[in-house]
Amino acid sequence: MKRIFLLFLAAVLFGSTCVADEPDSVYIFSYARAQDEGRSGLLFAWSRDQQNWHPVGNGFGFVKSDYGRWGSEKRMIRPFLFYDADDLWHCIWNLDNKEGAVAYTSSKDLLYWMPQSYFISQKALKRFTPEKMNAERSRQQQIVIAGAAETGVIKKVPWNIVSGLIKKEQLSGYRSRLWGETTKEDARRFAGLKPLKLVISPEPAGAKKISNLLMGVFFEDINYAADGGLYAELIQNRDFEYAPSDKENRDPAWNSKKAWSLSGNGAEFTIDSVHPVHPNNKNYAVLKTAGGQTGVINEGFDGIAVTAGERYDFSLFVRSMSGKKKALAIRLIGRQGEELAAASVKEPTGEWQQLRTVLIARKTAAGARLEIVLQPESVIAIDMVSLFPQKTFRARKNGLRADLAASIADLHPRFVRFPGGCVAHGDGLENIYHWKNTIGPLEARKPQRNLWGYHQTAGLGYFEYFQFCEDIGAAPLPVVAAGVPCQNSARHGHPLGGQQGGIPLDEMDRYIQDVLDLIEWANGSAQTKWGSLRAAAGHPEPFNLKYIGIGNEDLISEVFTERFTLIYKAVKEKYPAITIIGTAGPFFEGADYTEGWKLATKLGVPMIDEHYYVPPAWFIYNQDFYDKYDRAGPRVYLGEYAAHLPDRPNNLETALAEAIHLTALERNGDVVHMASYAPLLAKENHTQWNPDLIYFNNTTIKRTTGYYIQQLFGQNAGDEYIPAKAMYSDNNEKVKNRVAWSIVRNSHTKELIIKMVNLLPVPATLSLDMDSFRFSNPTIIKTVLKGRPDEKDLVPVQTAVVINEIRTIELAPYSFTVLRIKP
Ligand code: AHR
Repeated sequence: MKRIFLLFLAAVLFGSTCVADEPDSVYIFSYARAQDEGRSGLLFAWSRDQQNWHPVGNGFGFVKSDYGRWGSEKRMIRPFLFYDADDLWHCIWNLDNKEGAVAYTSSKDLLYWMPQSYFISQKALKRFTPEKMNAERSRQQQIVIAGAAETGVIKKVPWNIVSGLIKKEQLSGYRSRLWGETTKEDARRFAGLKPLKLVISPEPAGAKKISNLLMGVFFEDINYAADGGLYAELIQNRDFEYAPSDKENRDPAWNSKKAWSLSGNGAEFTIDSVHPVHPNNKNYAVLKTAGGQTGVINEGFDGIAVTAGERYDFSLFVRSMSGKKKALAIRLIGRQGEELAAASVKEPTGEWQQLRTVLIARKTAAGARLEIVLQPESVIAIDMVSLFPQKTFRARKNGLRADLAASIADLHPRFVRFPGGCVAHGDGLENIYHWKNTIGPLEARKPQRNLWGYHQTAGLGYFEYFQFCEDIGAAPLPVVAAGVPCQNSARHGHPLGGQQGGIPLDEMDRYIQDVLDLIEWANGSAQTKWGSLRAAAGHPEPFNLKYIGIGNEDLISEVFTERFTLIYKAVKEKYPAITIIGTAGPFFEGADYTEGWKLATKLGVPMIDEHYYVPPAWFIYNQDFYDKYDRAGPRVYLGEYAAHLPDRPNNLETALAEAIHLTALERNGDVVHMASYAPLLAKENHTQWNPDLIYFNNTTIKRTTGYYIQQLFGQNAGDEYIPAKAMYSDNNEKVKNRVAWSIVRNSHTKELIIKMVNLLPVPATLSLDMDSFRFSNPTIIKTVLKGRPDEKDLVPVQTAVVINEIRTIELAPYSFTVLRIKP
């Protein structure tokens, strides 16, 4: 209803444009600004006489180029627009200043534009003859718009086309203002507002089943979430595989020696690759010493944090290249060089050998370093140098950092999505995440560039992800690329690159087989080819995989559609019991959203992954977003969402906006089956994306206010939704929309859970009609999170209350309250 109201309001506000005496037809000029190389997209101006031109909106782009990397490559150069016999508008533009690759899109009305396709040359766009395109291109002319000479095409069109453009731009402006509302203006917006009173009358007879999987987590190796984060390995660049290409050659210090240095004098440290431990891991270090005492030191990820009395498993692959075979001393040293722990490994032989020892820290230190003490006049090769705390989460070998993993487990997630995000589909074809590269012995895994600008060891690989899910009782939700890399991929020297560089069709069978093999690896018996590898890794029982995502917010181009369909059909045919999750672009509307849904509906895809990062007020004004969804259509997995304020904090305001949305998701839990906030983790000083749910450094963890909202929903989930009627003392939409609630029941424990959000600057007094539940003497826990909207370090407070105290309950200004009622 609220969306319809919004459209109605906009129609009333903008129904008539400023043109008093509307002409039958006018001229439109379509162009892209030369000044910003078309980054603001396809613009329009109109004129009655071709002399006086009126820009539609102030630089409002009706189509924006979605080709290539953000910023540098999303250009729209010399677009030309034409209308053809197929009753469609066609728009073609160049992607760069060479007369090479072009983009194409079409529209019925100049308002809704189809997903874009990209071609290596104008000739490759076979839809039109070269003569036709040249003829249309030649209609470009120069016009002065707002003082700047712009190149574009003039067309005569009926006035209603222009009025449609104007309305679209005005509606967009209206929405930006509405969704731009923040609590900063609350004092003015709600001046004189009286405390709100509302009466809520639950209707248990109307209870409906909702998903019991709603609250989950999204894990992506962004912000150093994996290496240097959740993955408990303490040695940075343990395999000497860091490469300048990880950072696209922007950092000369980022190479195979990164994080390593020599102590003492006279030693040589080189990188070799002629006789590696494993071909997937080609680099190793060669250390040649002279007379004195020398060592090779690893600085860890911003230092190594050790705790007095704790045990650390050290291992390395080593080979003597000099015939001298002497034991190696291994030490942990503090900032001043003081020894914190010492041990040794036996003398290396002439062949690669993995040697192990245990270091016990004598002192606690945050900035320790690991030193391998070298023997004088020796030459040794080392690789896969590793140091793990024995206290990993659930004491798993090659395990996870205990405190970080526990903070995820405390969210009580019903599923874990991995390995991303953009990491799943990668920056270009070579960067697609292939699960097979991430299983098996660590030295045989294939490390690779992380598109967020660092390095992935793949030490935290598919086995570890599945193991973690099992350890915390969450369903595993792997997401594989749909045969295409991210649409924001760079060209990487490819003539076309971007998403268009999809896996060549004649290689798709092999890729599809990889996806099928993943399901066999997870669910097949230990006798199957891939199930036997899982068993060999220590897990003979199947992992019980039920869900798989194909694609990550991709452009729904022809290249995508073709490949997605092939993968979808193959998985569905071989594994009909697996729920396949399709994708619907990175926004809550637009061509990828609409066409993603159309494709999924046509193919009968059971669930669709939606993503949106939006301002808090979007959540306030879109509480009915899912109320309109077809209950017989595909289910929704809201795979990525978060409230973003301009300076990107994670504060009480964003957290309460997310809470409002979560109450709406619970109400729509019959259609929205899963939801995961994104991103999950961020390391201090290595954060590429804000806000995140959990911030950490090597020794501490900061759970954000948004974290507690996720946790309260995760810990207080239900599988039945109980509708309610509400009466308000103030019917102003801006007031009503800032108060939200949901009532759910756990059908197993019979507990009733009531969640209430108040995003107003005044208290809301809520009368709850509890009589329909017939509680006699229930146990009730009340949890409240409250504060100033800009506060960041808030924690929820719990109290025990009795039934009479909740018949009327005061919701503090800017607060979230949960009542958990045990009959
Ligand atoms: O969550 C961060 C990024 O946002 C994800 O990698 C991507 O899917 C989305 O654009």
